[in-house]
Amino acid sequence: MNALEALRDLYLIDIHAFRMNLDEALKERRSIRKYDKRIVPKNLVSQLLEAAEMSPSAGNLRARRYIIVTKPELRKALAMAAYSQSQAEMAPLLIVVCADVERSSRRYGDRGSLYSIQDATAATMCLLLKAHDLGLGACWMGAFDDDIIRETLSLQDNLLPIALISLGWPAERPAPPPERRMEEVVRWIE
Ligand SMILES: Cc1cc2nc3c(=O)[nH]c(=O)nc-3n(C[C@H](O)[C@H](O)[C@H](O)COP(=O)(O)O)c2cc1C
Repeated sequence: MNALEALRDLYLIDIHAFRMNLDEALKERRSIRKYDKRIVPKNLVSQLLEAAEMSPSAGNLRARRYIIVTKPELRKALAMAAYSQSQAEMAPLLIVVCADVERSSRRYGDRGSLYSIQDATAATMCLLLKAHDLGLGACWMGAFDDDIIRETLSLQDNLLPIALISLGWPAERPAPPPERRMEEVVRWIE
């Protein structure tokens, strides 16, 4: 039971009144690259993973895996794989989201490779939104050396690392990136 749920039970209040709504979450989520020293409780990590698994997937195959790393030596190796990006070095916890290429390819042949990457990517986004909802800070990293990640985690051949996520309690509030005019990116065909 989390703190909000405990409050609900104590005072019989609607916790959703306190929760972020979707628009707020989408607008206010930022990549967080600085964390304070507190550890992230396992039950919160479980909530992130459950949120990730609610994301859509091709044929509902959920061709993705998650590897959670808190062990200091392994975090250090993963941070090196991510070219020593500071958030990877400082975060108390790293999550590697992998595509299970084989699982998707068994059903979809060549297309399966792309589908499994999309399955893993969709999960990453849901995980990041849930992290924000829980007050955690996370940064999605795509810049890493696949081979070092593979070797560090002894990854099975069927798994392709897609995102390395650093996670912790936020110690910064970055400004939002500059907005882009919708007309630059959207084409309506009516
Ligand atoms: C595919 C992908 C790869 C990324 N790789 C990195 C990375 O290696 N290092 C990093 O600091 N941020 C990385 N980011 C985070 C982006 O820099 C960030 O999302 C973008 O600047 C917008 O900022 P915001 O997330 O705060 O809205 C990545 C994001 C995506 C979607």
